[in-house]
This record gives sequence, C-alpha cells and structure tokens, in this order.
Amino acid sequence: MPNCALLKQLAKRRILYSAMSEKVFINEVGLRDGLQNLDTFISSDGKLALCRSFIDAGLKEIEVTSFVSHKAVPQMSDADRLFSNLPDLSDVDFSALVPNIKGYERAREAGAKRVALVVATTETFNQRNINMTFSEAVSISEKVIALAQVDGVRVRTYISGSFVCPYEGIIPVNQVLDLTERLLAAGTDEVGIADTTGASNPAHCQKLFSAVTQRWGPERFSAHFHDTRAMGLVLAWIALQEGIRRFDSSIGGLGGCPFAPGAAGNLATEDLVFMLNQSGYKTDINFDRLLLAIATAEQLTGKSLGGRIMPWWTSQDK
Ligand code: COA
Ligand code: ZN
Repeated sequence: MPNCALLKQLAKRRILYSAMSEKVFINEVGLRDGLQNLDTFISSDGKLALCRSFIDAGLKEIEVTSFVSHKAVPQMSDADRLFSNLPDLSDVDFSALVPNIKGYERAREAGAKRVALVVATTETFNQRNINMTFSEAVSISEKVIALAQVDGVRVRTYISGSFVCPYEGIIPVNQVLDLTERLLAAGTDEVGIADTTGASNPAHCQKLFSAVTQRWGPERFSAHFHDTRAMGLVLAWIALQEGIRRFDSSIGGLGGCPFAPGAAGNLATEDLVFMLNQSGYKTDINFDRLLLAIATAEQLTGKSLGGRIMPWWTSQDK
C-alpha cells in the first residue's frame, strides 16, 4: 500500500521545483567575504565603486560589509559609513554580516533591511571566529532574530563549517540538521549552508542538501561554497539538483575567512553565472559587465583575479 501522504508531499515538491526551476538568485559576497582577509585597506569610495559595478552587472543581492569589531577585522572598520552611503535602490537587497547584538544595532542604525548571522558547527570554530561558545552563538542568534522580526529586518543565518570544521574535522549531517532545526524554529528567514574552507566533496554535499531539502524543502536555504579544492562548481551543481536556488559567490573568486585556516577564494561569481546560463537557468546577470566588475576588483586589490572560466573566455575572439 503506497504511502499517500508521502506521495502527495513528493508531488507537491516536484511542482514546487518545476515552478521555481528557472530562476537562480545570486548573493554577491565579494565586498564582505572577498575583502575581509585583505591586509591593504580599501577605501569606502573604492568599495562603493565595486558595489556600483555589481549593480551595473545586474546583481540584486549584495553582502556589503560586516558590523564586527574593527580590531578583529580592520577591513570592515568603515561599515557604518559604507552602508549609509549605498545608493537608494528598491530592487537591490544590500545586506551585512552581524556577529552579535551590537553589530545588529549598528546595521539597523545604518539602514540595513537584511542581515546575516553566523553560527559555526563546533565549539572551537565559534571561539576562534566570534569568541563565543557554541551555545552562546546560538542564543545570541536567537536574540538577534527576535529583534529583527520586530524591526522587519530579514535574517540569513550562515552555518559555518557545515561540512568540515577547520579545527575539529568532518561534521556529521545530523549535527547540521539539529542546528538548522533550532535556527528555523528561532525564525531565521534563510539558512546559509556554508563550506567555509572549501573542504566539502560531492558525496557529502549531496547527502547534506538532500537531507535538508527532504525535511524542509529548498526555499529557506542558500549555499555558500569556496573553491579551495576545485570543487566549487560541482558542489553548486549538486545543490542545484537538490532544489537550491540561492547561492553566494564572489567576484573573481576573491575571498577567505581570517579565522578559518585554509579558507581560500569563494566560488567565483563569473564561473557560477556562466554555468547557470549555459545550463538554461535564468540569473538576469550580464556576464560582460561582470568582467568589468572583476577589473574594478583587480584595480582596488592589486591582485590578479578571475574564476576558472577566465583563461578560456579571454582567449576567445569576441
Ligand atoms: N562591532 C563593533 N565593535 C564591537 C562589536 C561589534 N559588533 N561587538 C563588540 N565590539 C567591541 C566592544 O564594544 C568592545 O569594545 P571596547 O574594547 O572598546 O570596549 C570590544 O569589541 C570587545 O567586546 P566583546 O563583546 O568582549 O567582544 P569580543 O572581544 O568577544 O569579540 C566579536 C567578539 C564578535 C565582536 C569579534 O570576535 C568579531 O568582531 N569577530 C569578527 C568575526 C568575523 O568577521 N568573522 C569572519 C566572518 S564569518
Ligand atoms: Zn565564505
């Protein structure tokens, strides 16, 4: 006898997937994850110019900065000024990372309508990243989510080290599910499954995203990958096949976390956009204009940037 409730649920999910299958949303994190590791301070005007190049390329979600301690991440010391000087655009979602209530209050004061929290999967990673125990990190997140709900501010909560913790090793899928359950119950609008050090692999990625989407559906989840071990695109493809339609990526593959040894560049926005466009997904992002954004990022950082697509792309006759 077939399980009717389960069949109905599956049919519903299938309909949901097909209805939302074409459009993929990309959150550009180059200004935050991309720059936070950089020693040379980039001026607020330079950051605003990079932000403008993202907007020109059609990016609609941009993580601009973090309201963290200037001692912990000097690059983000201009967060208040930067956020307050963003262009007033109703169709672009600007967000900022906040590690605690003070960060949330600063972000709200600067006009943020969307913030990102971060909870790592292990004790050590939370200690090193935000100087909190795991319980403190969860409880502060619950408090910030409650405040944000009252203020009408949307919250994405990243689960840092969702696959591997740089200090404690491989993270079992159930551990991430338990944490996800708590964050969703607290009312976070979105959970960002983050492979902070780019240490996941296709099998582990499939297992986690499949477990997550079977339990809660894909709508409240996003995926955040780093390309440290050349897995970025394949992991994104796997998450996509599991129904995920929200991804973080960083222009030119800029990125890394100062508190996660081994965290190299993020999945490059241009690689992700190219793969999605080639596969028939809709991003509304102009690839040529992304290249202008890479040039701006190169000029500002003094680094040679670009995802895996770039050597081939630049060798083509246009
Ligand atoms: N923004 C600015 N300053 C902050 C702050 C915030 N969000 N939170 C705390 N501070 C200040 C306090 O006011 C205090 O300042 P004082 O020394 O002048 O009195 C000082 O920082 C220490 O406060 P405390 O609450 O004890 O913080 P902490 O030293 O335990 O540091 C964090 C905690 C979260 C503020 C710090 O670890 C941090 O900013 N980490 C950055 C994490 C990050 O960006 N990781 C990468 C992305 S995942
Ligand atoms: Zn990251």
